[in-house]
Amino acid sequence: AGNRTFTMIKPDAVGNGHAGKILDQILEAGFRVVALKYTQLTDADAKAFYAVHKERPFYGELVEYMSSGPIYAAILEKDNAVADFRTLIGATNPAEAAEGTIRQRFAESIAANAIHGSDSDENAAIEGNFFFSERERH
Ligand code: CMP
Repeated sequence: AGNRTFTMIKPDAVGNGHAGKILDQILEAGFRVVALKYTQLTDADAKAFYAVHKERPFYGELVEYMSSGPIYAAILEKDNAVADFRTLIGATNPAEAAEGTIRQRFAESIAANAIHGSDSDENAAIEGNFFFSERERH
């Protein structure tokens, strides 16, 4: 039991062959995988998923990057899932990510930063619903 967060292992990490090590670190940290899929965002998917960032200067780059290759999308469960997962992945900019965090270990840059973690319970639900049907989310 516990509550939920949503994650994506991003195209850089999948392309570099780091997805297995990242999933292993997530499981070792006590997260349970509720739902998991290997998929690729279309340009339209990425625009919709990141609509909250539409006015940011990096929106175009973000959309292009996130649709550039396959990803893993997952819903994870653990007590205090959102906050604990953000601690596990580290700062958005890997240069600032704490030692041993997923981004410190595997990310290349602030754009190609290996992994996504929801920033609130509300967004975790919205983001999980974007990728998974109700049946897949049980
Ligand atoms: P994430 O938190 O998963 O979702 C928003 C993403 O935007 C973030 O990860 C970064 O990958 C990306 N991002 C944030 N700031 C920048 C930036 N300055 N330049 C490029 N990408 C960014």
